[in-house]
This record gives sequence, structure tokens and C-alpha cells, in this order.
Amino acid sequence: GYKLWLQYYPLENPKSEYREILGNARVPGESPTLSIIKTELEIARSGFFGPATLQKDSNSPKLIIALKDTDPAINKNTTPEEMAVLGEEGYLIKKFSEAGQNKILITANSEIGLLYGTFKLLQTIQTGEQIPNTGLSNSPKIKHRVLNHWDNLDRSVERGYSGSSIWNWHRLPRHIDQQYLDYARANASLGINGVSVTNVNANALVLTPEYLAKAKALADAFRPYGIKLYLTARFSSPMEIGGLPTADPINAEVQAWWKEKTKEIYQYIPDFGGFLVKADSEGQPGPHNYGRTQAEGANVLADAVRPYGGIVMWRAFVYNEKTPDDRHKQGYNEFKKIDGEFRENVIVQVKNGAIDFQPREPFHPLFGAMPKTPLMMEFQITQEYLGHDTHLAFLAPMFEETLKSDTYANGKGSLVSKVIDGSLHKYPLTAMAGVANIGTDRNWTGHHFHQANWFAFGKLAWDPETRSADIAEEWLKLTFTTDKKFTEPIQKMMLASHEMVVNYMTPLGLHHIMARGHHYGPGPWVTGGGRDDWTATYYHKATEKGVGFDRTASGSDALGQYAPEIQKEWGNLKTAPEKFLLWFHHLPWDHRLANGNTLWDGIALHYQKGVEEAKANVAIWESMEAHVDAERFKHVLSFMKIQAEEAVWWRDACLLYFQQFSKMPLPDGVDKPE
Ligand code: GCU
Repeated sequence: GYKLWLQYYPLENPKSEYREILGNARVPGESPTLSIIKTELEIARSGFFGPATLQKDSNSPKLIIALKDTDPAINKNTTPEEMAVLGEEGYLIKKFSEAGQNKILITANSEIGLLYGTFKLLQTIQTGEQIPNTGLSNSPKIKHRVLNHWDNLDRSVERGYSGSSIWNWHRLPRHIDQQYLDYARANASLGINGVSVTNVNANALVLTPEYLAKAKALADAFRPYGIKLYLTARFSSPMEIGGLPTADPINAEVQAWWKEKTKEIYQYIPDFGGFLVKADSEGQPGPHNYGRTQAEGANVLADAVRPYGGIVMWRAFVYNEKTPDDRHKQGYNEFKKIDGEFRENVIVQVKNGAIDFQPREPFHPLFGAMPKTPLMMEFQITQEYLGHDTHLAFLAPMFEETLKSDTYANGKGSLVSKVIDGSLHKYPLTAMAGVANIGTDRNWTGHHFHQANWFAFGKLAWDPETRSADIAEEWLKLTFTTDKKFTEPIQKMMLASHEMVVNYMTPLGLHHIMARGHHYGPGPWVTGGGRDDWTATYYHKATEKGVGFDRTASGSDALGQYAPEIQKEWGNLKTAPEKFLLWFHHLPWDHRLANGNTLWDGIALHYQKGVEEAKANVAIWESMEAHVDAERFKHVLSFMKIQAEEAVWWRDACLLYFQQFSKMPLPDGVDKPE
């Protein structure tokens, strides 16, 4: 499992033409990135065809991986137009013939583009796809494709479920663990080009010289893979490590402190990417402490990094538990009114939904609502609310659902994907972040199948319109086998898995009914704890009369933050999508769903469906034993059994809890609590 999707297992047709092509490559020049390319070709070649080397014919290489002007074959076989569309990071893979021989070239406008092209060629070979005769040209639609690690500097990871943090701060900067390089290589194979290494609940210590030296060592290790390093900045750092009496963003000394600190960071890391900031949320300090806006806060940091080309990713996850208003509305209310007030190197990082990475959320109403401020997407790859490490949930369909949502900002077709790729509002700055699910577990992600979520994030950050079905298929072929007897049923299982989890956790728009704190198991009964919004009853509002959060005009009117087209559709019970029903409506238990069932029966049947699927998945996986190595087979099987048992736990706990209010019997087809 450690090898992720870079297995390079033997090709089904070992006589493939690629034996000669990979054995006879020319990569002119010397540099750290070029040597990564050369090593990668060698690892792949010996994986595909065995370790024996071919006699090289250096006069007639069969694969040329080179920048323009570094090899005559590139200039001869490409056009300026073909090169221009590649941009900084794109690549072109092309077949050509020379002296009667079939050859392949990979070119780009940068060495990183060459590396991306190399990975693409190797992936194409492994999956058995063909390179089209017209060539394969590809470049990223999003500029900054960034993993966010919620590392606490002490090997722990907030919401991390795959062992400890892979950053060993104690051994840094003197020891560069091989895992850092394997990690960077895996990211580069997907086109991920940024890593924010520390928790958004930031520790100011990371900005001290001791830690900057460590961060520099990581940045140096990542650089040849095209990855920039970012740090989270604690807003109160000028006080905590700078000795100032205030962190007020309009204070001249505070501004000077950030400028000095930034200058120092760039001395360590000349290509430092910039800061990621969580402010004024869940106890974090921020501009509100001084009566300033989020823009005033962000701009101080933006001014500091601007001379060096850095950016600030300022999170929109700002809410205050003391504000009586629906938590759903707070991010929008905070940011909408300051659209256009941010410096041009600030991008506002918005979670996919307005609450908090729930198993299913409608898209965040800020998307489409800030035409003058670049917005980026923040997805959570780590499964805080989706069963942590043990529950299989392939997240690409969930990401895709959000990205394909129509904001109607500029009329029909104003998809979230077009907001974040910059095309809708012409944002020059674009980005996507994913909260990493990576840890020291031997297979990186706990569940083997959760590697697919890291993979999916990379693919969608490169192109947010990639189809989740294609992502699943490619991942399966790279990770296990191209045998359809395996890939077809397992792809189907993966694609259905997110909906399955929604069914047994939070069907029909229910949300945040998990246990307080760890968020792993069910907890619709949770009350108390000092904060109204951290109780489950805040979200489901179940009483004998009904269930659900009225967010229409008769309730909190969070729905009013969406475009009129959406308000009309989601606000009307005849047209509201059932998947968001109880997110926006409080309804009586005997409300009739579209299929004629009562709401109570519908809820119960959804829970049952989720349980049945989780149980069926165990049997499907058991039937795959012949296709998977024993180690991965057993590991996945034992996790699937846990998932099936815990789906029952979720169903029974939630139905028994809600039944106290509905006082209705379980419908036919729903098992009695186990
Ligand atoms: C959730 C999560 C926290 C995290 C926060 C955030 O609330 O439970 O652990 O810090 O999101 O995204 O900032």
C-alpha cells in the first residue's frame, strides 16, 4: 500500500512497445527535477518489464523528454502554438517518427511540466490507454493546488486518523526522511504544487527561527517536485513571538512586524508560497479582536508577502458561537459585504459547504456571491465526519456534486467549478485546498481506499471538471489491476459509497448529528457543553411535531443567501431536492415524500439502505480475493466489516432516538435494532 497509485506492476502485455521506449530515453541536461524524471522512468520500466536493462542506442533514443531548444526533435516536431497553450506547468506528449522509427516526445515550458508529462505517460502505459495520434496536451485549470496539513508541531494532526504526522519536527532540519520525498513524488504525480504544513489552528512558534529552519528543509526537499511551502499564520503572532502589545492590523508597528517576519521567511525560503490564516473562529484570534474586518486583517499579511510574489489564503470559516444567528449564515454575512476590499494577492478559502464538512452539504452560498474577490475551494479529504479512517467513502462524487452546483451568479450554468477556476468572474488568482488525510500509517491513509481521496483531490484540483467515475477507474487501474472483473464492480462500489455513508449517517438533509468532539459515531442526542451550536439538537430540531432546520424565509432564511432561482427551487417543497430537505425545512413526521412515503418511513428506509449496502460491500470485496494481494485484501476486508457493523450502530442509534419524537413504528423492510 505504501506505493499508492505508483505501483508500476508488470504490464499485462510484456512485449509492449514501451519496453524499448522506456529503456531508451533521452532526458538532456542535469538538474534535481530532471534526475527525478530519470529515476521515475527507471522505476517504472523495471516495474513494468522486470529489472533487466536494454542495450541503449544513444544515437537513436525512442523517448525524448526535453524543453524546447534542448533537443532538436522537440523543435522539429512541435509548433509554437502547441507550446504556447501549455502555459507554465502544462505538458505535451506526442508520437512522431524519425528514421522510420516510432518515437515519443514529452515537452513543456518548464521542467515541472516535463515531470508532470512523464507521470502522465507512465500512468497511460499502466492503465493501457493509448496516446492519441494528435498528441496529449494538458495543463492545469487551477493555479495553486494545495494540501493543508493540520499538523500541531508535536506529531499530532488535528482530525488526522492515519497515524502520526509525517513531519518529524524534532529530526528536522538535519534529517530529511525518505517519506518526505515519497510524499512529494506522489503529489507531483497528481500535479499538487503546494503544501501548507501546519494546522490552521496555528501555533505561532512555527514562525520562529528554530522552526523556519525546519520549514526551509522541507521546502528544499519539495522544490524539485514543483511544490511550494506555505505556513499558517497565527494572527496574534506579533504579540506572542514579537513582543508587541497588540496585533491590531492597522497599527504601524504590527504592519512593520509582519513585513520584517516575512522578509526573514523569504531569506530561509526564497519561493515561500505565502500564508494560510484562520481568524476569528473557534477561539482563534483575528481582526475582530480590534473591531477590524477580515479584509483589514488579510491585507496586512498580503502587503508583507506581495513584494516576493506570495499570496494569502484567508479562510471564510469565520463564525462566532455567541452570535444568535444561524451558523450557516455567518460566513456569508461576514464576507459578502467586503467583496472587493481585499488586496489582489488575497484569495478567500471557502469550505465546500456553509457549516462544516458534513457528509452532505449544499454548496456554500459565498460561491458566486463575491465577483470582486477570488474565492478558492477547501475540501476536507480527511474524513472527520465520514467515519474517519475505517469507513470507506470515495469522496470524488461529493466533490463533484459541489463543483457542478449551479450558483446562477451570472445566469444558468454559473457552476461552482467556474467560480473557482476563475472563468466566471475572471479571477486571475485561482486555488483549491484539500485538508490532507495523510499520516505515518504504512499505507499513508489508514483505509487503502482513502488513498483514492488524495488522488481524487489532485485530479480535481488540476481540472475541477474531471468526472468522478474516471477518477475511480484510473485509480483502481493504477493501484490494483486493469482486470475488468475487479475494476468494474469495485468502481461501482466506490462511486456508490459516499451516498451509502450519507444514508446510514445523515439522510435527507440531516446534519451534525454525530457525537460531540470526536465526531465519529452517532450523537443526535448531544446537548450541553457550553455552546448551543455544538449540540446536535441545534441542527435537527426534532420534536414530536417534526424534524429539520427551517432555513427558509419563515426560519433563519439562510436560503435567502442563494440566487433567486435556487431560493425558488429549494424553498418550495414540491421542487426542493430531497437530499437537502431537512437542511432547509422543518417538517412533520407524516409529511409525504415524492414516493408517497411519510418522512419518518423515508428516514428509516434510507438508514436501512445504507446498512444493506455496507453489508453487501463486505460480500463484494470477499469475492475479489483472487485479484488483490493478501495484505491489502485482508486490511480492506477488516475495515469493511467494521463499517458494516457501525452502519448498524448509526441506524439503530438514530432511529431509536428520533422514534421518541415521531412515535411511529418502523416501516416494513427496516430491521429491528440489533
Ligand atoms: C472543524 C474541525 C476543527 C477545525 C475546523 C476548521 O470545526 O472540527 O477541528 O479546526 O473545522 O476547519 O478550522
